[in-house]
Amino acid sequence: MSSIVEQPASGPARSLAQEVARRRTFAIISHPDAGKTTLTEKLLLYAGAVELAGAVRSRGNQRHATSDWMLMEQERGISITATALEMEYHGYHINLLDTPGHQDFSEDTYRTLMAVDSAVMVLDSAKGIEPQTEKLFHVCRMRGIPILTFINKMDHEGRAPLELLDEIERILGIGTAALNWPIGSGDQFQGVYDLRGGRVLRFERTLRNQSRAPVKVAGLDDPELAGLIGEGPQRALKEDVDLLAGVGGAFDHARFLKGEITPVFFGSALNNFGVEPFLDSLLELAPAPGPRETDRGFIEPSDKETTGFIFKIQANMDPRHRDRMAFLRICSGHFQTGMAVNHTRLGKSIRLARVYRLFGRDRESIDEAFPGDVVGVVSPGHFAIGDTITTGGPIGFPGIPRFAPENFAVIMNTEISRYKQFNKGLLQLEEEGATQVLYSPHSTRREPILAVVGALQFDVVMARLKDEYGVDARLERLSYTLARWITNPGNPPARLILPRNVLQCTDSRDRPVLLFQSAWELRYTQEENPKVVFSDVG
Ligand code: G4P
Repeated sequence: MSSIVEQPASGPARSLAQEVARRRTFAIISHPDAGKTTLTEKLLLYAGAVELAGAVRSRGNQRHATSDWMLMEQERGISITATALEMEYHGYHINLLDTPGHQDFSEDTYRTLMAVDSAVMVLDSAKGIEPQTEKLFHVCRMRGIPILTFINKMDHEGRAPLELLDEIERILGIGTAALNWPIGSGDQFQGVYDLRGGRVLRFERTLRNQSRAPVKVAGLDDPELAGLIGEGPQRALKEDVDLLAGVGGAFDHARFLKGEITPVFFGSALNNFGVEPFLDSLLELAPAPGPRETDRGFIEPSDKETTGFIFKIQANMDPRHRDRMAFLRICSGHFQTGMAVNHTRLGKSIRLARVYRLFGRDRESIDEAFPGDVVGVVSPGHFAIGDTITTGGPIGFPGIPRFAPENFAVIMNTEISRYKQFNKGLLQLEEEGATQVLYSPHSTRREPILAVVGALQFDVVMARLKDEYGVDARLERLSYTLARWITNPGNPPARLILPRNVLQCTDSRDRPVLLFQSAWELRYTQEENPKVVFSDVG
């Protein structure tokens, strides 16, 4: 039984507003190992995207997801690059944007979260809130996007459900409203009670991919309930639910949309338990694409002007197509392939002729897209992260956050004959946001310096230079831990008073950057140069 409103079946004449209303664009956030990949796979299964689900985790290599398309990702079992998955379900058009799980790639995740309208937070019932969950939660909060919570692994011995709700409220500072409640846990886990629908969904351990039909009961005192789950569990369930009612926690959709409370669901992704009702609730509760803030005020998704922004660039996604794909989130209007759009940063009109729907490394040409959709655009040299396109006048969306680099290394090209490829590789990887490239004009060393947020990014740059550009390079780590850009309007002060170990650099756009080994050095520099404006991002 589904609580979602079935959307009109496909037909010739869906209006732009109907297309918007049936779209749900979200990402799953979690600490590694909480079950994001498993849940993604199961959501795809329920949405009927069976082939896609099979591909998310291929047989024989349990840790490999299709969205982990780079060799390095496969080897290490980490998802580095975010991709978009698209599916149709009960008339809804779902865009699920994949986010890298590893914290060294959080910048990529942050950009992806700019492109979604809601997020699903997956927790491990035994671990509760973990460091990466907390970080990602705060980005969603900054963006004000609504968050649904799925507490996973209920088939394992976990923490008490009330304690988990309390932890979410305490650590994340968001209200909770449980929409289903577990009956027992670990070995004794029997299923969940749907608090809104008054239904019992029973967990079946042996029949893996089958689920028993939910049983509607008259209430928590219904003798039929005791027959279903036993008298003891019935009493415990009733006590928990009474306690819940006592601590508030009622679900208020408007507060959820404002990001003030999170609806909480319990289940087990691995056992397919609770995933289908969760998907139904997600579609019912999560918002369709809404108005987006721009420098011209809010723009409605059903506006006739087509707008969108680039949140990610990826080169060489597929060795068969050595090109660069820009990921475009459509924010308003009816996007049509081949349409001429104004490129705000370049101040010129361009025609978008090569537009694709993406799934991991696969691509398929499309003719049109609607707000909420993420499409891949191939347009050599035209796009950088944060660029906007529009069929109207120039437009800007709020800036995509950048992170301050914390790891630095000199990169040396070991083959002089591959000099051109080395430079091209670095340039392209920088445009993708995979690294920043700095130069130290005053030092005796002329090699470029890579500046990254997480150290694993170095490995990605090196592996990609080799695979995609045929360049062997060597890295020498530097002991700097902080970078500050000098962002004084006009000319920065000519003379700076600096501690001895500070390295003066310029970035690839010739802007001055200082590298520090410690917070003390930075503080000293700020105190000695009060007229200088320092910024932690370029
Ligand atoms: P991630 O993407 O968030 O990193 O997590 P992933 O889905 O890869 O799941 C991490 C581990 O947790 C996997 O086990 C997975 O099978 C297990 N898992 C996911 N959901 C559940 C659940 O509902 N119950 C239980 N008991 N386990 C669950 P693994 O042994 O690390 O890997 P694998 O060999 O099973 O792939």
